[in-house]
Amino acid sequence: MPKQEPELMKDIVSLCKRRGIIYPNSEIYGGFANTWDYGPYGVLLKNNVKKIWWEEMVQKRADIVGLDSAILMNPKVWEASGHLKEFHDPLIDCKKCKQRFKADDITDAKCPNCKGELTEAKEFQLMFKTFVGPVEEDKSVTYLRPETAQGIFTNFKNVLDSTRVKLPFGIAQIGKAFRNEITPGNFTFRTLEFEQFELEYFVYPKSADAEFKKWRQARFDWYISLGIAKNKLRFQDHDKKDLAHYAKAVTDVEYEFPFGWSELEGIANRGDYDLAQHQKVSGQDLAYFDEETKEKLLPFVIEPSGGVDRATLAFLVDAYAEESVSSKSSPPAGGGVGGGGSETRTVLRLHPKLAPIKAAILPLVKKDPKLVKIAKEIYEELKPHFFVEYDEDGTVGKRYRRQDEIGTPFCITIDSDSLTDKTVTIRHRDSMKQGRVKITDLLSWITDQLK
Ligand code: GAP
Repeated sequence: MPKQEPELMKDIVSLCKRRGIIYPNSEIYGGFANTWDYGPYGVLLKNNVKKIWWEEMVQKRADIVGLDSAILMNPKVWEASGHLKEFHDPLIDCKKCKQRFKADDITDAKCPNCKGELTEAKEFQLMFKTFVGPVEEDKSVTYLRPETAQGIFTNFKNVLDSTRVKLPFGIAQIGKAFRNEITPGNFTFRTLEFEQFELEYFVYPKSADAEFKKWRQARFDWYISLGIAKNKLRFQDHDKKDLAHYAKAVTDVEYEFPFGWSELEGIANRGDYDLAQHQKVSGQDLAYFDEETKEKLLPFVIEPSGGVDRATLAFLVDAYAEESVSSKSSPPAGGGVGGGGSETRTVLRLHPKLAPIKAAILPLVKKDPKLVKIAKEIYEELKPHFFVEYDEDGTVGKRYRRQDEIGTPFCITIDSDSLTDKTVTIRHRDSMKQGRVKITDLLSWITDQLK
């Protein structure tokens, strides 16, 4: 029977730590709530998520340009965007155990933790406040950005003036955002510091509804194209009364995590709210001049806004499997005897494009210098093209299992036949099937698998 939360999440968190994917932050000091660090394999995985998004949203599109704006911005931005006024949660404290709760999560008059008496709800600003310069005074207050989007809106005019974009067009950005989140995080699902991938797609107001529908579907399909099971994804339309202060319509793409259906990405029709607000507060003309109609207008904007960390977590959770396999399923390549009975293997069935390491190169025996030499030559040849790993330690079965746990799709084993026929064994992570490929074809063979 498949494992259920919380056992499954615990196993995933533990695999992530054991295999260098994600570590608790500041662990030697007892950790830091809702904050995590990506380890050597985690950073490769997360970089792949960002790279694929960027290729899809910027590189392959003539109508979208990229941007990398600063985290700290003039505090007027947050006044204009509405975050200073609107971006807060009502919180309730327990007078006895001092724990804090979102007012929405409290269902009776007592503390859910210790049944102590509760305070009245107080508004709590979700933006992190900081001070610029040597003096902590009101004049020097600014905030860590809670979304990357505002850097796009404040550069709207710069992009219009410095590039040849014409409506409809988009500006995309990947970057850190910060929120002083109170509710516990479910691993990297909700953290204080996270990365967003956001696109602001500017359109003629009359085509906003159609563009909203297009982006909604495109973003859903993106997760599926990277291997997420279709039955684990769904759309969740927001009720009009629950819409964020800037939005005319919002649909979330949700994934069924072990802790329940939760938002991966929100697609919003923000209307002209942001440009109108920035125009008003800055006093600058942010209108778009339409060459054809010779009219000025404030475009509407469709915003697919996702979390890189949430997407990475969904890919990890969806890829995670524990399965019972026969010990014979990992016989030494090139023949030999595998063990009897069965064992459990943990495997990350990540899409090859997402996998941190694309191939592991394994000489069958470390003691044979001829095999080691060929293996190291293959490693040197592939290294400039993909992240590959050379591993000669332990039985080949153990080495396969290690690679299964970090999601490496292909293991290349060099055995005694390689010396004569110049081929190697390729073992596939998911099927565990093996086949032989010529050493000279390896580079193009792996390249084809990553398409
Ligand atoms: N610009 C719109 C915006 O920021 P949002 O729904 O508040 O919208 C967009 O955030 C995405 O950012 C979410 O769908 C989620 O993937 C990610 N995100 C938001 N808060 C997060 C947090 N505390 N930790 C991790 N990811 C978060």
